[in-house]
Amino acid sequence: MEKEKVIQLLDCERRNFIERHPRSRALFEKAGKSLLGGVPMNWMVKWAGGFPVFVEAAKRSYFTDVDGHRYLDLCLGDTGAMTGHAPDQSIGAIVDRVCRGTTFMLPTEEVLLLGTELQRRFGLPYWQFALTATDANRFSIRLARHITGRSKILVYNWCYHGTVDESFITLHQDGRVTPRQGNLGPPVDPAVTTKVIEFNDTEALEKALQDEDVACVLAEPVMTNIGIIHPDPGYHLILRELTRKTGTILIIDETHTICAGPGGYTALHGLEPDMFTLGKPIASGIPAAVYGCSEDIARRITELTTVEDSDTGGIGGTLAGNALSIAAMRATLENVLTTEAYEITIPLAERFVAGVEEVIKEFGRPWNVTQLGCRAEYWFRPEPARNGSEAAEAVDPELDSYMHLATLNRGILMTPFHNMALISPQTTVEDINRHTEVFREIVKNLVG
Ligand SMILES: Cc1ncc(COP(=O)(O)O)c(C=O)c1O
Repeated sequence: MEKEKVIQLLDCERRNFIERHPRSRALFEKAGKSLLGGVPMNWMVKWAGGFPVFVEAAKRSYFTDVDGHRYLDLCLGDTGAMTGHAPDQSIGAIVDRVCRGTTFMLPTEEVLLLGTELQRRFGLPYWQFALTATDANRFSIRLARHITGRSKILVYNWCYHGTVDESFITLHQDGRVTPRQGNLGPPVDPAVTTKVIEFNDTEALEKALQDEDVACVLAEPVMTNIGIIHPDPGYHLILRELTRKTGTILIIDETHTICAGPGGYTALHGLEPDMFTLGKPIASGIPAAVYGCSEDIARRITELTTVEDSDTGGIGGTLAGNALSIAAMRATLENVLTTEAYEITIPLAERFVAGVEEVIKEFGRPWNVTQLGCRAEYWFRPEPARNGSEAAEAVDPELDSYMHLATLNRGILMTPFHNMALISPQTTVEDINRHTEVFREIVKNLVG
């Protein structure tokens, strides 16, 4: 019954969306003549309205589309624009670098300042650069394999670390391990390269590491790609203890959890990763990513790699470490993703959560809402999940699409494919109150 209602409401929202977005629709149809699927990137067809909104311009926490609508952006490019769009504090440095040349195959002096800032913020002594978080993860995995001489990596069920081949693996409840659904042309069965366990399962972790054939654990400190799933108290201590005991390298991927604070979850909770990766918002929307390592890992890398092979070692990217990305990262860390910015965004996320909780209670929905720093997300189960499988069981694609599209039709963009909100330093109390109002209206429609 409720399902029928959701489908009915979703239909209605879709009609409304199509009616109000004639120009986006026309552009999408025209784009189909030159772009595969009518979009620049395959996942851009997955939006709940059937075609994407085409963006005209964006500034701070708002963007406008080609049909003249203005949206509060709580998606923020799925964290790529967590700085807010086109932040004034980094534009100057970016434009200046564009005018003075962007890529040379040579370093600029500025990179020294960036290296020092990365050390200060995240606690690891040595750093390298990539263009995407995916590549930062890929390169870290390669290095981990190289210096340990081990072939496997370990990830959590339902993790996402970018398009890293080894990570597209699913653990089923009957213990079977298969390639993740939709995995296109996997180079090998990921079971060959990867062990997969549930988050928060310390017994499985111990068992998976005991053979000492795992080069690295690639972990988000809090899972963020199947809802927000917090670690159990003490989980990270056990993870660190077991990885150390078995000589397994611990890579912490902070690409999303940088929402926890200026030093990510790592600095906030005193984690001690061997390697650390981060991309997306670190350069105010300019493609850039970083990966760092401990003194010990740096020594082992240096001992086991030669300058002669450095251009064919499987770690590369002609534009990686380019001067524009470096300038953008430096300006972003110095002037945008500051302690003061988090002092604004985290209380706003708390306000978002309070508003959503109030509505969930008011209408007796069996849902919960979780928060990590300036990120919050509601999920369709009464209690927060403890692992990926529990969270995945509660996925309801029609309900997700309805909530997403109904919110969009009322002028607010949530992160698609689930319903996550991210707060930028320019988001306001009025913006959050507006979300609560919209959330109330669309939940009321659902139960009315
Ligand atoms: C935790 C995490 N790591 C890495 C990535 C990959 O980022 P990118 O697609 O920018 O390479 C993502 C993307 O969503 C992510 O969520």
